[in-house]
Amino acid sequence: MLKLEQLYEGKAKKVYRTENPELLIISYKDDATAFNGQKKGTIYGKGVINNKMSNMLMKYLEKQNIPTHFVEELNDRESLVKKVSIVPLEVIVRNIAAGSFSKRYGIEEGIVFDSPTIEFSYKNDALGDPLLNDYHIHALKIASEEELETIKKYSFGINRCLKELWSKCNITLVDFKLEFGRLSDGTIVLADEISPDTSRLWDSATGKKLDKDRFRRDLGDVEAAYDEVMARLNKII
Ligand code: TMP
Ligand code: ASP
Repeated sequence: MLKLEQLYEGKAKKVYRTENPELLIISYKDDATAFNGQKKGTIYGKGVINNKMSNMLMKYLEKQNIPTHFVEELNDRESLVKKVSIVPLEVIVRNIAAGSFSKRYGIEEGIVFDSPTIEFSYKNDALGDPLLNDYHIHALKIASEEELETIKKYSFGINRCLKELWSKCNITLVDFKLEFGRLSDGTIVLADEISPDTSRLWDSATGKKLDKDRFRRDLGDVEAAYDEVMARLNKII
């Protein structure tokens, strides 16, 4: 599939048009940002890992009846995906308190919830991705009631699948962020990526953080953590 002009450049990926109006090519970069782009850096090799890992996870989810945008891995950093119109929501599923949840509600990181939680942010960098509840989502016409129910059902289903998969790698899935899109016929599918950039992954034995928090919090060994997660996943998939 021929890569035509660049349509969009985000913080971690570039998106290109192809000859097929229903398909796009995404290209994963090594660029890393945090705190709404205020902190910038490079995680060497991250683009290759995130491309491969996200594709592996989406293929696995497809088998569990979760529709995704994934079509085909083209090379180390690039994949062919279905063109979607992104629903401007960051959907965050949490199993354990950490990050902004701990900060906002003043609870220690590591407290395990009785059942998973879900929250939504408005995907809007200029506004700092403000939190939204279901009523706000409807008032702002971001998604219909039916679409939001589908998004919630898929998100909790993805959590069940990924929790089990990561546990086979001796990794605890703390939380993660998802984005969904609409195909041209309106079907909701999982889009964007699932990677250590968008998930909190803790070593089940030691609690060591094996995700982008190593970059956000200047913990060091960032590349080694991404390599470690990829190596563990490769062993079990
Ligand atoms: P948070 O605790 O900072 O809200 O993050 C929750 C999860 O969402 C965590 O796994 C990291 C991920 N995340 C993103 O993928 N993109 C973002 O812009 C933010 C803030 C978090
Ligand atoms: N990628 C997001 C940003 O630039 C935040 C994050 O992942 O922490 O700000």
